[in-house]
Amino acid sequence: MPRTTVFRKSLKILRHISLYGIIFPYTSYAFYVSLKTNWEITKRKDDHTILKYTPLKICGRYENPFEEYRIQTVYEFFINRIIELFETNRGGIPIDQARMNTLMPIHKPTWTTTTSVNGVNTSKEILSDPIDSITLMDTFALSKNKDSTRSTANLDVTWLGQSCSFILYNNSLKILTDPLFTNFLISPKFGPKRITKLPCSIEDVPQPDIILVSHNHPDHLDELSLKTWANKENVTWIVPKGLGTFLKKNYDIKNYIELSWWQSAKITTKNLHKTYFVHCTPAMHWSGRSLLDSNESLWCTFLVKEQGCSQNFLFHGGDTGYVKDLFKMIRARYGDVKLAILPCGQYCPQWHQKPRHINPTEVLNIMKDLHAQNVLGVHWGTFVLSGEYFREPKEKLEFLAEWEGVSQNCYCPELGNTQQF
Ligand SMILES: *[C@@H]1O[C@H](CO)[C@@H](O)[C@H](O)[C@H]1NC(C)=O
Ligand SMILES: *[C@@H]1O[C@H](CO)[C@@H](O)[C@H](O)[C@H]1NC(C)=O
Ligand SMILES: *[C@@H]1O[C@H](CO)[C@@H](O)[C@H](O)[C@H]1NC(C)=O
Ligand SMILES: *[C@@H]1O[C@H](CO)[C@@H](O)[C@H](O)[C@H]1NC(C)=O
Repeated sequence: MPRTTVFRKSLKILRHISLYGIIFPYTSYAFYVSLKTNWEITKRKDDHTILKYTPLKICGRYENPFEEYRIQTVYEFFINRIIELFETNRGGIPIDQARMNTLMPIHKPTWTTTTSVNGVNTSKEILSDPIDSITLMDTFALSKNKDSTRSTANLDVTWLGQSCSFILYNNSLKILTDPLFTNFLISPKFGPKRITKLPCSIEDVPQPDIILVSHNHPDHLDELSLKTWANKENVTWIVPKGLGTFLKKNYDIKNYIELSWWQSAKITTKNLHKTYFVHCTPAMHWSGRSLLDSNESLWCTFLVKEQGCSQNFLFHGGDTGYVKDLFKMIRARYGDVKLAILPCGQYCPQWHQKPRHINPTEVLNIMKDLHAQNVLGVHWGTFVLSGEYFREPKEKLEFLAEWEGVSQNCYCPELGNTQQF
């Protein structure tokens, strides 16, 4: 057989395989999932209890049970990546480093706010209060909130990029959210690379008592953090359902606890004998670290509070789209929030991003829905993963907050700078 015939024949077989082996089955699968999801959403439509937003699993993968959601197929995903290739200067990052430094100042974290005595800045010493026990609570055993005091203790918050923040509660409980300490997402060569430097290296971070992970996308959970805090004494990973299996299988991590939406963990500490609650609440997003594992684990948001306070001191927003009754429902069940750290970037183009990412207007909606006293806007200024100008999330959020008269309580922090609430 001549070479060209062999070539043409193999091309035909290949086309056959991709059409009948991949494209046809995948399209039918996506079609089925979309129908089934919509059917389930319609069925739950008139439910006003939390059952409306309990996790939905179809063919072994989680799907979003929200009316606002629209399925994203791999076709949409790749079409968007191709469109992006034609955009020049995405994110509008200045070439001039000095200009970038003024637009995005980066501070060396002190972790606690400093007090100045005779011109010498000193930061408070962080008390060591390791976790004694952490137990899963029965979702429906949670009694109605009877505590009535507001959270008076100090919160020191340091934003480190994307949704990664270090939070110190009352100078003792150390919380790290969506850990990220690498300069790239996929590989050092192919990036995507950070557009702003890390405020500190991972060794400089005080050892967290708990690490809250909203989902497994690489910009919310990096390999270095996994390796650094794998099986570390006095460190507990709190992750959404299904992610623990991944931690165990790939990194042999045993110091974790998995929570599903509306599930809670009760934490007691060794030295100060404190009791804290971590509530896992729904988010509209998706998960996956490779093409094949998408939605095998859940995505979520978290609330944290100390026993005896009616107010949760923290809401960790991770990565989510806006659902009109969801955040009201979260507040009705668990009470008000002192500080909500919410994503505010990666919303362009809206037709593509809206089902998975909130924009600054929606940040302000969530602030109202949750009765959040303070909001910090994060998830911007770290990578260029969407179409908007890189500082637009900050500028828009702060403009809108000013307009609504809440500019003192709702803004975007500077990288590495510790803020006290
Ligand atoms: C994963 O979930 C998201 C959100 O529900 C959906 O858009 C996507 O199509 C799902 N992927 C798979 C493979 O099920
Ligand atoms: C002390 O802190 C203030 C305010 O944060 C800062 O302006 C000043 O430079 C600091 N001084 C020293 C010696 O680090
Ligand atoms: C904060 O810590 C201090 C000192 O450990 C303690 O006296 C105070 O009661 C704590 N506040 C709250 C609200 O837990
Ligand atoms: C863990 O906590 C215990 C009890 O407070 C303490 O003795 C131990 O040194 C801590 N270990 C690490 C690695 O911090």
